Amino acid sequence: MLRTYTCGELTINHINQQVTLCGWVQKNRKLGGMLFIDLRDRYGITQLVFNSESNAELCKTAEHFGREWVIQAKGVVAERYNKNKNIPTGDIEILVDEVTVLNKSEVPPFTIEDESDGGDELRMKYRYLDLRRNPVKNNLVFRHNLGIELRNYMSNIGFLEIETPFLIKSTPEGARDFIVPSRMNQGEFYALPQSPQTFKQLLMISGYDRYFQIVRCFRDEDLRADRQPEFTQIDCEMSFVEQEDVLQTFEGLIKYILKKVKNVEIESIPRITFDDAMRLYGCDKPDIRFEMQFVELNDRLKHREFPVFNNAELVVGIVAKECANYTRKQLDALTDFVKRPQIGAGGLVYVLCQQDGTFKSSIDKFYDQEDLKAVAEKCNAEAGDLILIMSGEIEKVRKQLCELRLEMGKQLGLRKAGEYKPLWVIDFPLLEWDEETQRYYAKHHPFTSPKPEHITLLDTDPGAVNANAYDLVINGTEIGGGSIRIFNKELQQKMFSVLGFTPEEAQHQFGFLLNAFQYGCPPHGGIAFGFDRLCAILCDSESIRDFIAFPKNNSGRDTMLDAPSVVAQAQLDELGIKSI
Ligand code: AMO
Repeated sequence: MLRTYTCGELTINHINQQVTLCGWVQKNRKLGGMLFIDLRDRYGITQLVFNSESNAELCKTAEHFGREWVIQAKGVVAERYNKNKNIPTGDIEILVDEVTVLNKSEVPPFTIEDESDGGDELRMKYRYLDLRRNPVKNNLVFRHNLGIELRNYMSNIGFLEIETPFLIKSTPEGARDFIVPSRMNQGEFYALPQSPQTFKQLLMISGYDRYFQIVRCFRDEDLRADRQPEFTQIDCEMSFVEQEDVLQTFEGLIKYILKKVKNVEIESIPRITFDDAMRLYGCDKPDIRFEMQFVELNDRLKHREFPVFNNAELVVGIVAKECANYTRKQLDALTDFVKRPQIGAGGLVYVLCQQDGTFKSSIDKFYDQEDLKAVAEKCNAEAGDLILIMSGEIEKVRKQLCELRLEMGKQLGLRKAGEYKPLWVIDFPLLEWDEETQRYYAKHHPFTSPKPEHITLLDTDPGAVNANAYDLVINGTEIGGGSIRIFNKELQQKMFSVLGFTPEEAQHQFGFLLNAFQYGCPPHGGIAFGFDRLCAILCDSESIRDFIAFPKNNSGRDTMLDAPSVVAQAQLDELGIKSI
């Protein structure tokens, strides 16, 4: 080894020991006859001292070491005169008697500090330098530790980690596939898996009744803070189970992880149906760190001459506790917020429940005090509260009010960092109607089982069929999703037909699975969690990029590699692909 210790481990207990350290020059400063260098590695920072009186030549050499040079220093551990209580090695320093430059460095394009002066783009281009910074490094350490805990837990309850292939067959469902041309089979393409879904089902048929895999998945979809084109799932599947068994098993996992990595204990994970989630929170991934549930107000507000409400499918409100003192300016800002194109609402109605028991509202022209009192009563609003009301088509207005609810939660400090509120959302619809293509799509995926009591509805009213499908939501982010699967060939064929596949198309795309169903397929179900999202949410971070060593930007580019990139015509020729 070129070193005897790391830069993070020497303490007062090592005084007078002769040591050798290696690392990067973080800082180099001269103070009178002394030269101080902060030497950094993955483990921390240790102060090196060069004394110009005792060794002028060495000191002169070290004076020229620039930031990020890689050096090896030998010397004796000494107690520091000026101790630094902020770092574990702050009690000591190394009196250097020999130093070697292992490699020089260009001046880095941004400071390698916790608060760097480098912008996002620059840091991504030089991600290998960004990764030297503590905040990013700590995230990767967290991810590593979480991965170990997950593997231990799953292995301890009998799950086997089994790898599945990355070069697979393209399927038309779900997001877009990334495709890979085959040189040996010209004109044909592999697809990278969007998830190992069909493979884990095949493994159930093979008898591996408890499977998991921490696995990379690939989806060519529009990117956001919580979406990367390649991301990691904790993918799980079990045989001989019903929905309740899956929920219980993974509730155990989530409880264990929260306790282990966050020291947070939760009793049990509450459940809400998809319908209730939409009705009470306007979305299928509610943040339940705060209440502020929707109150539907059609019965209280559709009886006067106010066309906006009378023409609306749904009039619905939320109560912001103790916000009746909001100024006109604050209320206007909220109206502007919902009118932003991203939200697209026509406007916002407010009712201030004043301390004297009277009401003031933006619809005073149409509604009298009795009307507003009836609204306040339905909302359980008290004197001092603010009621915010929106109206419109059911789906749209719910989405819009959901955004406003989250914004109010943020403004009022109700979405607290460090608080974790997992929630199961259950009873999802099996299918989703798409106006544009005039067909049904699987809400989860085509292998999800309808609720047994709804199977007959597949013929008569497919839109009304509910599925044995569930999502795990934490603090308003979808962390995982899964379902009980179809395990019967005829039902699977039926499902494909409802999704608009001809029997030939179904056989062509999914024949391997349909065939396998004929050879003793056990009842099974499972779930997959987004590993990157789980890391981010547990560290109160907005972006999963912070937990991926080499992420892509929002256009799917790796700016460091400059990928994707054009390839030589010769390479395309080999693949039998004509130039574009
Ligand atoms: P689903 O598509 O819901 O289910 O994905 C499971 C979880 O993966 C995460 N996730 C993502 N994370 C980052 N970037 C993305 N682009 C991205 N897409 C999804 C989410 C999501 O909840 N095979 C099924 C699971 C099953 O039925 O067992 C599946 O893939 O956290």
